[in-house]
Amino acid sequence: MNGIQILVVDYGSQYTLVIGRTLRELGVRSIILPPKKIDKWLKNNIPKAIILSGSNWSVHSKGAPELPKSLDVTGKKYLILGICYGMQLLSYKLGGKVDKPYKHREYGPAEVMLERKHPLFKGISKKTEVWTSHGDTVIKLPKNFISIGTSSGITAMSNKTNSVFGIQFHPEVAHTKEGKKILQNFIRLSNCKKDWDPINLIHQIQKEVLDIVDKDKQKQKIILGVSGGVDSTTLAAILAPVLGKKLICIAIDTGGLRKNEIGELKKNTKSAGIKNLVVIEAGEKFIKNISTTIDGEEKRSKFRKVYKSIFETQIAKYKAGFIVQGTLATDIIESGKAGQSAMIKTHHNVGLTWKIQDLHPLRNLFKYEVRELARVINLPKTIYERNPFPGPGLYLRVVGTPVTKENIELVREADKTVSDILKKYNLSKNISQLIVALFGVNSVGVKGDERVYGHSFAVRAVVTVDFMTARGYYFKEEIINEITNALTKHKNIVRVFFDLTPKPPATTEFE
Ligand code: XMP
Repeated sequence: MNGIQILVVDYGSQYTLVIGRTLRELGVRSIILPPKKIDKWLKNNIPKAIILSGSNWSVHSKGAPELPKSLDVTGKKYLILGICYGMQLLSYKLGGKVDKPYKHREYGPAEVMLERKHPLFKGISKKTEVWTSHGDTVIKLPKNFISIGTSSGITAMSNKTNSVFGIQFHPEVAHTKEGKKILQNFIRLSNCKKDWDPINLIHQIQKEVLDIVDKDKQKQKIILGVSGGVDSTTLAAILAPVLGKKLICIAIDTGGLRKNEIGELKKNTKSAGIKNLVVIEAGEKFIKNISTTIDGEEKRSKFRKVYKSIFETQIAKYKAGFIVQGTLATDIIESGKAGQSAMIKTHHNVGLTWKIQDLHPLRNLFKYEVRELARVINLPKTIYERNPFPGPGLYLRVVGTPVTKENIELVREADKTVSDILKKYNLSKNISQLIVALFGVNSVGVKGDERVYGHSFAVRAVVTVDFMTARGYYFKEEIINEITNALTKHKNIVRVFFDLTPKPPATTEFE
């Protein structure tokens, strides 16, 4: 992926995203991938350094994630830093010993004594305060490794050639006082060059688009599809100042949006400095086409066609010369357009062909990087922390039965009901995406004293770093009860299921 220098293997630690963010704060981009994706990535890329993240797993547990098969553990190809579980896994696989001395997970502050001068700890105090969170610990080092820091046991290790390191604590969290300096040392030892400068990147995006657009003598208009989400809004906010009146932002009310979505979108685009916003009402058109199928991929394909035809009409209306889209690296990967990744789902706006030139200025970026760009240009928190929502929207959340106006309205209300409960308990920030879907399986229930034959709903909340993998969010019992009660208040909803299946094998959406 375009000269990425640091690969972070995500073993599921809650701090993995923070590793990426800290590296960017130090000026270096990274890619964060789950262990299963590493071998394929390493086939096509040579990073300068690899970081193995922490995890809740113990190396001794059945099913614990492994070191990627193609990982070169000699430190000759790239430097390696194992953090917490990453250090335990390295030690264990290289012949050291990992033990479980504590009954519970130990977490909290600890003091580390540096045992000797070591380049990883250049400029760090001899006694330094760190943050730990672990159940296991390394009790015997692998051959050719030395201990470079101790706390209650071996806390830091290095191979003799200073190219493979392990630290038991988390350098990425703010409670590790000198953690950033340690990561800075790791970057320096890996010879990584600075390649993340958000302001510079914003200028590059503006320049890339201007260079193409300015060649156009007729000064044609540029169309940008905005959905109100973080990607398209950030892109519009980046381009609006340089394209001025040439930029026409088009939002489509597909009939599959969440409650008050268009109102939110108008508010968000306004705070992003977007002046030319055109909202197109197209609910009737979409529902007429989509309601004829219940197959997810067919729905997407029909959605794409209608979506494309609306844009074509607008392109003709404004005599536009260019169409700009907020497609991200992950959209391209998941749609099977990058490298050899398998086609999982056709994203509604990836790979569409237009009669005019299409530009994808965010194509090399990940969601968390776009969020950072949004923060840098001072977009409100409501934009940069916004959870994603699929283009085909609620059409994907009527599952196994044709989409009708009535059931899509029911899903919209149900989504609002559950979202409000999550907001009330301040849970939205813990959850990466919420899906409330109507399942096409009616079942028998009893309301009052009467038999009802009504709808089943599924509620799925997921937690993820990059949507390539995800885990189900476990609600507390009282919240499960509140959601179930709130949804079954509707006279036609009889049952509520909660779905905790991770991705893989499931995907985030039901279809
Ligand atoms: P899956 O279900 O593939 O979803 O795990 C990953 C992320 O992508 C969103 N998604 C879509 N977004 N058009 C979109 O714009 C689509 O067709 C589409 N399908 C899934 C999904 O909501 C999640 O955030």
